[in-house]
This record gives sequence, C-alpha cells and structure tokens, in this order.
Amino acid sequence: MTLQMLIATCAWLLLVLGYCQRYQRSRHVPLVLAGIGTDLALVLYLQITRGAVQKALAFDMTLLNQLHVGFSTAALLLYFPILYLGFRLVRGDKSAALRITHARLARVCLGLRTAGFILMFSMWKH
Ligand code: HEM
Repeated sequence: MTLQMLIATCAWLLLVLGYCQRYQRSRHVPLVLAGIGTDLALVLYLQITRGAVQKALAFDMTLLNQLHVGFSTAALLLYFPILYLGFRLVRGDKSAALRITHARLARVCLGLRTAGFILMFSMWKH
C-alpha cells in the first residue's frame, strides 16, 4: 500500500467514526472535519504532484480506476454543501429540514466515498 493510500484510508476511517458519533456533536464535528480536511489536502497534493485531474480527464484508465475517480469526485463535491449545512447546525439553526437535508446528503456522500475507497484498491500496483 502506498503512503497516499494509507492517508486515504485514515480519512475514510475518520469519516466512518464521525458518522458513528453523529448524535454526539462534540465528537461528530471534529472527526468529520478531520476526515474531510485530510481528503481535500490529499487531492490537492495529488493534483500538484501528479496532475490527477488531467489524468482522470484523459479517460485512459481501466473501468474500475475510472469508477474510483468518479465516485470519489462526487463525494468530494458533496463535501461543500454538507460543510455549509453542518456549520449552520453548529451555529444553532434548529430547523428540522436543515438537519434532515444535512443527514441525507451526508449519507449519500459517505456511500460514494466508501465505494470510491474500495475501488481505490484497484489502483494498487504490486
Ligand atoms: C461526510 C461527513 C458527514 C457525515 C457523514 C455526517 C452525517 C451526519 C448525520 C447522519 C447527522 C444526523 C444525525 C441525525 O439523524 O439526527 C448529522 C448531524 C449533524 N452534523 Fe454531520 N455529517 C458530516 C459532516 C458534518 C460537518 C462537516 C459538520 C460541521 C461542520 C457537521 C455537523 C453536524 C451537526 C451539528 C449535526 C447535528 C448533531 C446533533 O446535535 O445531534 N456534520 N451529521
């Protein structure tokens, strides 16, 4: 496993732990923020060092690799509305609709991120 795969695994574990602590705000928020932050930093690093976006847009990878990129990108894009809604909840907005939308988007995002995480291992070169 490469160092980048190890970091991606830690980010995914932080998100899963954060999800498990979703009813405990004081644990949920730092865990998911650490997971999202790690993921975004890793993507930035891969972009700077390897031009990850250009590689993905060349569409010359295997189907599994393309699916990994597709699921992971969709999850990353969902981080932004989830962060926006999450911070509104943190600031004390008690709207049930807000909480439900945050939870729904976050569940879809975690599903996509988990699929992307499993497919990441198709990139593992022995
Ligand atoms: C992908 C990451 C995330 C996932 C999977 C996630 C998941 C969830 C879920 C499922 C709930 C609803 C719990 C319920 O059923 O009522 C929830 C609540 C909440 N989330 Fe997130 N969330 C994520 C990111 C964030 C972020 C980034 C923030 C803050 C910046 C945040 C702040 C909150 C808050 C304040 C609540 C209400 C907690 C409470 O007091 O019960 N979440 N989250």
